[in-house]
Amino acid sequence: MGAETLPIGTKSQKVAMDKFVIEGGSMLYGTVRISGAKNSALPAMAAALLTNDDVHLGRVPCLADVGTMVELLEKMGVRTDGYEGGRRPAEGGGSFSKSITINASGINTHEAPYELVRTMRASVLVLGPLVARYGSARVSIPGGCAIGSRPIDLHLKGLTALGARVSMDHGYIDVTAQRLKGAKIAFDTVTVTGTENLIMAASLAQGTTVIRNAAREPEVASLADQLVRMGAKIHGAGADTVTIDGVDRLHGCAVDIIPDRIEAGTYMIAAAAAGGEVEIADCKPGHVRALLARMQEAGIDYTETGDSVVVKREKTARIKSLNVKTMPYPDFPTDLQAQLMVLMTQGDDTSVITETIFENRFMHVPELRRMGADIKTEGNVAIVKGGTRLMGAQIMATDLRASASLVIAGLISDGTTEVSRIYHLDRGYEFMENKLSGIGAKLKRTRT
Ligand code: UD1
Repeated sequence: MGAETLPIGTKSQKVAMDKFVIEGGSMLYGTVRISGAKNSALPAMAAALLTNDDVHLGRVPCLADVGTMVELLEKMGVRTDGYEGGRRPAEGGGSFSKSITINASGINTHEAPYELVRTMRASVLVLGPLVARYGSARVSIPGGCAIGSRPIDLHLKGLTALGARVSMDHGYIDVTAQRLKGAKIAFDTVTVTGTENLIMAASLAQGTTVIRNAAREPEVASLADQLVRMGAKIHGAGADTVTIDGVDRLHGCAVDIIPDRIEAGTYMIAAAAAGGEVEIADCKPGHVRALLARMQEAGIDYTETGDSVVVKREKTARIKSLNVKTMPYPDFPTDLQAQLMVLMTQGDDTSVITETIFENRFMHVPELRRMGADIKTEGNVAIVKGGTRLMGAQIMATDLRASASLVIAGLISDGTTEVSRIYHLDRGYEFMENKLSGIGAKLKRTRT
C-alpha cells in the first residue's frame, strides 16, 4: 500500500472524516525529515501583528492549525501571502513546509471569533499583540477541550498587571489599554502560550517587564529571537526569568521556524516501537533531550549527529519499562506522553506514567485497551503492563497527540488498524502518511 495524498489544511479537509488504514508489522527503514514546529509557527504568525512591515516566515508547516491562523489573520484584514491550504504534496518522505509573508498594515478588526478559537485554542496568541499595538482585543473565551479545561486566566492576569482592563460579555473577553506599562509578573503555573502572549505584549509596553516562572520551551526562545530581530529588547528567554525592555515600535523580519521537537520525538518513538533503522533528520536533538535520556534508559540504541538522530532496534530487542512523569520543558513533554505509552506496552515489565500538565490526557487509553493493551489508570497515573501483543482494531482519535499514539500502535499491531477522525492529526503532523510510508510503513488515508 502506498500513501494516497489528499489535500490538507483546507476548510473542507477539516470537516472531512479521513481515516488511516494501517497494516501493522513492518519494520521501518530510511529517513524522515522533520517539519517546522506547529507550536513555533503559530506565535511567530501572531507576532506579525506587532508591526506594519512584512514578516517573512520560512519553513512553515502545512497544517490545519496553520490554516486556521491564516484564516484568523485574514479575517482581521491582515494580508498573508504564500500559504496554500490544499496543496498536494510530492510523493515521498520529503518536507513540504514553505515560506509565508504576513503584513498587518491593513488590519481592520481586533476580534478573534468563536468559530476559529473553538477550532484552535492557540488563537488566543493574538491577544497580547493586539492589545499592545492597537489598545484593544476581543477574543472568544476558549471552552474546555478534550484534554482538560485549559483556562487562560494567567494570560489575563499578566495583561492586567501590564495595565490592561479585562471584561467579559457574551462569551468574549475584551481587553483594552492605553499603552501597556512594564511590570513584574510571576506565573503560578508554567504556561507556554501565556508566556508568549506576555512577551509579545511587553515588547511594546512602556518600561521594563520581568516574567518569573516563565515557560522555557524552545518555542518561547525562538519567538523571543524573532522579536529581537524585529527590534525588541528581550533577555533570558528560554530561562525561567525573562526581562523585556519595551520599545516604541517593531519592524519586519525574516526568520525560519524551528524544527518540530514533538514531531521528531513521535518518529523516534515510532522507530523504536516498530524496529528497524530510521534517521530523524533536520531536527534539533538538543530539544528532545528528555526523550533521548528515556530511550537510553529503555535500552533503545540511537546515535546523534548534528541535526539528526538515528534510532535503531532489532525487532526482538528488549525494551526496558520506565517510570515517566510529564513536566514543563526541559523535562519530559506532555505532548509525547501518549506515544511513549504505546512504546511501554512493549516493555519488559510494568511502567508507571504520570501526567502532571493536563487533567484528562489519557483519552488514548480506552482505544489502546481495545487493541489489547493492559493499562490501568488511577487519576493522573497510568500503569502500563509491558510485553503485550497489540491487535489491529477500529479505533478513534480523540486529540492531536493521542492520534499519533494510535498510529504508532497500529504500526506495531497484528493485522489491520483503522484510525478514524484523523483531522486531529492533520492539525499538527505535516503529511504523516507520506513520511511514514517513506520509511516502509504500510498505511493509507481514506475518506469516508
Ligand atoms: C502549549 C502547547 C501544547 C502543550 C502545552 C503544554 C502551543 C500552541 N501549545 O499549550 O502543545 O501541550 O503547551 O506543554 O504551544 N493554565 C492555567 N491558566 C492559564 C494557562 C494555562 O491554569 O492561563 C494551565 C493549563 O490548564 C495546563 C498548564 O497550565 O494545565 C499548562 O498549559 P499551557 O502551557 O498554557 O498550555 P498551552 O500554552 O495552551
